[in-house]
Amino acid sequence: MKLWSKGLEPDKMIEEFTVGNDRELDLRLARYDVIGSIAHIRMLESIGLLKKEELDVLVKNLNDILAIIDKGDFKIAEGVEDIHSQIEFMLTERLGDIGKKIHSGRSRNDQVLVDLKLFMRDELRHIASATERLFGRLQSLSEQYKDTLMPGYTHLQIAMPSSFGLWFGAYAESLVDDMRVLEAAYDITNQNPLGSAAGYGSSFPLDRKRTTDLLEFGDLHYNVVAAQMSRGKTERAISFAISAIASTLGHFAMDVCMFMCQNFGFVSFPDELTTGSSIMPHKKNPDVFEIMRGKCNRLQSVSNEIALLTANLPLGYNRDLQLLKDILFPATASLIDCLDMCDFMLQHIRVNRDILNDPKYDYLFTVEDVNRMVLSGTPFREAYRTVGIQVNNGEYKPTKTVNHTHIGSIGNLCNDKIADKMKHIAAKFK
Ligand code: ARG
Repeated sequence: MKLWSKGLEPDKMIEEFTVGNDRELDLRLARYDVIGSIAHIRMLESIGLLKKEELDVLVKNLNDILAIIDKGDFKIAEGVEDIHSQIEFMLTERLGDIGKKIHSGRSRNDQVLVDLKLFMRDELRHIASATERLFGRLQSLSEQYKDTLMPGYTHLQIAMPSSFGLWFGAYAESLVDDMRVLEAAYDITNQNPLGSAAGYGSSFPLDRKRTTDLLEFGDLHYNVVAAQMSRGKTERAISFAISAIASTLGHFAMDVCMFMCQNFGFVSFPDELTTGSSIMPHKKNPDVFEIMRGKCNRLQSVSNEIALLTANLPLGYNRDLQLLKDILFPATASLIDCLDMCDFMLQHIRVNRDILNDPKYDYLFTVEDVNRMVLSGTPFREAYRTVGIQVNNGEYKPTKTVNHTHIGSIGNLCNDKIADKMKHIAAKFK
């Protein structure tokens, strides 16, 4: 039975093709559908389209359904098209004609939109808090290892002294910028589309400000067509944020894989966090970070998938939009998974504290020696030549002391300033 049924049931094959796995995906929207409906009917009552007694009994029954959802006992019945239909059917089953009143002034087009906005708003909050947690972990490792030097590379060639403080701290600060992108996606998401109905509004005097307040949206999409256009655009904005974080995380995962390699040997993990080989008994592989790298690379393709899915769609609702759920829902879950896994692994990371004792890293210190000569009066270009000649003749002997003091350098990481930036942005999600 369909909400839109006028007596004739559609062909089974057509139904399967058009619904696909949408019912499973819709289960994640269930509680938001109820919350959206409660706000909608409160508003309907306030403009005289529902009686107070009707509202009370509807709210009570919707809350009962919410309890079923929160217990994990909720199902979308076979043959029911989607979450919106399921909840309306349940209400009608319980209440008869009163249940049929909740859809006045609303279409499934703005209903699914409001569900998605509420759902994605929560997902973005989860992503923000997982990102903030990883940020905190990276910052504390940065502080813990601020005096532990490591090689810095350019062109993957030994370049200048770096430190674990700098390395961990770099990814922390990078996540701050990703959070700014996430915040933009959050602001775009956090706008009320309810009242746009099928996409062209309604002749009922819907109080859209009321539902905006009830659902605690930061703002509303005013223009009803723009509200409908926000389906796809919102997902796309979110995909940019996902991509930003995934790019940082994927990059970090690559570093870890490389630094775990015996040729580097900078970091390691307890055996139980590494993986073995079926033939080589000595193997302790970085599969966790390889899977993380792969997942993060995949996540960066999500915005392309969304762009292609929505490219040149005619204005107004089109069923193609349904498929956005299948792209975005697994993506947010995968990102949160990667963030949490990275945080878990970093609780166990072991850092090699005397990497730079190995003479193969001696050339890291050439610039330090040049600078020392400059400080005692030699012009830079002359000092550069002198050290260069020592290197070429195999006579270079490094002085392995590093004294970097300016803002953001090894000796002055400014982690507190970076933490302030993050705190400021993270507060906007709360
Ligand atoms: N499952 C649909 C979706 O996600 C619900 C909206 C259906 N609207 C319609 N006009 N067929 O888009």
